Amino acid sequence: MSGNLEWNKIFGAGLATVFTILVVQQASGFVYQTKTPEKMGYAVDIPEEGAGGGAEAVLPPDWGTLIPVADLAAGEAAFARCQACHTINAGGANGIGPNLYGVIGRAVAGHAGFAYSDAMVAHRSEDPTWSLDAMDHFITAPARYVPGTKMSFAGLRDTETRVNLIAWMMTQGSSGYAVPAPDPARQPGAADAAVEGEVIVGGADTTGAPIEGAAGQSTVEATPAAPPAADSAPTGG
Ligand code: HEC
Repeated sequence: MSGNLEWNKIFGAGLATVFTILVVQQASGFVYQTKTPEKMGYAVDIPEEGAGGGAEAVLPPDWGTLIPVADLAAGEAAFARCQACHTINAGGANGIGPNLYGVIGRAVAGHAGFAYSDAMVAHRSEDPTWSLDAMDHFITAPARYVPGTKMSFAGLRDTETRVNLIAWMMTQGSSGYAVPAPDPARQPGAADAAVEGEVIVGGADTTGAPIEGAAGQSTVEATPAAPPAADSAPTGG
């Protein structure tokens, strides 16, 4: 009899435990509503090349340094990707895309006889000229830089390929375009250099005048900050 009572207690305790677990599970189901996600799997946010990561990835190419040493043969080879739609010889015909002779420094949507998309025409009022930076942004991801463009080309994500290609394109009627001088703020490690620069400015300044240091710092900081600010406006959309 007493043995049975012991077993009753044990079963009772077990039942109580199970009951408690069930109640807690139900209650937590109300508190933490578990929705079935619309898309199964993890949303992996892969940063766009150049958009995230280290400071170097964000730096636009330092054209003044890179253009003179670019691999023109590689650039010409890369143009094979464009040739399905574009000619680039002087007076060349428009194809699916406009003739690209002298396109660096040329007006955006500016080639006579080609029916540009509304998006490209609208882009001209934002940024009227195919500068080196604009060209670089466009061919990196055309539809991202000019949303709605009818250039159906995914883009060239490799910076070296783009630099070589753009350097070669310059030889096709754009050699008069003034390449900007080498820009230390765009050179790899510019972010580190800026930090060192601040230290050197402070250290070299024997008077220790805070005005000198402040001026030096603001110059160092303003230089790398300016290009991305100017560039990010059209890219953002
Ligand atoms: C599938 C066809 C196609 C390919 C491939 C292609 N383009 Fe285009 N491209 C076009 C079209 C179409 C336009 C006109 C876009 C518009 O009006 O929106 C255009 C426009 C352009 C423009 C603007 C020209 C201007 O006068 O404003 C440039 C620059 C350009 N392409 C460069 C390139 C480069 C460089 C490549 C190769 C890396 C390339 N394209 C590959 C079809 C193509």
